Amino acid sequence: MADKTDLSMMTRIYAKWAPVYDMLYGRLLRPGREAATREALACGRDILEVGVGTGLSLPGYPEGYRVVGVDLSKPMLDRAAEKIERLGLKSVTGLAVMDACRLGFADACFDAVVGQYVITLVPDAEAALDEFARVCKPGGDIVLVNKIGAEKGFVAFLERIAAPIARRVGLSSEFQLARIRNWASKAGFAVSSVRRVGVAGFYTVVRLTDRRTERAEAKAA
Ligand SMILES: C[S@@+](CC[C@H](N)C(=O)[O-])C[C@H]1O[C@@H](n2cnc3c(N)ncnc32)[C@H](O)[C@@H]1O
Repeated sequence: MADKTDLSMMTRIYAKWAPVYDMLYGRLLRPGREAATREALACGRDILEVGVGTGLSLPGYPEGYRVVGVDLSKPMLDRAAEKIERLGLKSVTGLAVMDACRLGFADACFDAVVGQYVITLVPDAEAALDEFARVCKPGGDIVLVNKIGAEKGFVAFLERIAAPIARRVGLSSEFQLARIRNWASKAGFAVSSVRRVGVAGFYTVVRLTDRRTERAEAKAA
């Protein structure tokens, strides 16, 4: 689990980003955001968006969906609330300040848990994924989009060097897909798709589908 220092550092950083976030990252991160939101629409009507930020993805959920957005940063969520009001987004049923590693929801209440550009920022990403799995309905999905780090070679080397600087400004450069795959295989989730989107496939959208029941049944048989 992320310690208090990590969380308060992240909270401080995003309080500073909040006023300029849409201007800086609105278009830049849009291809991955749109692809992840489309993927989530196919998973069911009850959606949890963790790290929803200023709510740039929220207009992508049409009426009939029930979307709850959570984020560590109140200033980011204030922008999301303003967007919901201004655009009349009926699909958004709630916003709350919450840590990805301590979700205040009952077990099994969402068809999909979506994390757009957030899991790589959580120091204990596996603890956050455990929480996503806990609140995910049986057979539900986890949809993630991130800039994933290179696995080897010179780019991987540069990304490792840049990691401490990236972290200080609330970004991430070296998170590897293997970490998500390893978590999924231990937790009983299948990696149903991995898609590269955007220029040169810069962003990676990963969909993980819950297979815990099948795994438990196979073990018992
Ligand atoms: C790069 S922004 C992405 C925002 C939005 N999802 C988007 O696509 O623009 C990362 C967001 O994750 C939030 N965040 C970072 N660590 C978090 C945590 N442990 N729990 C919840 N949110 C977190 C930050 O406050 C920030 O709003």
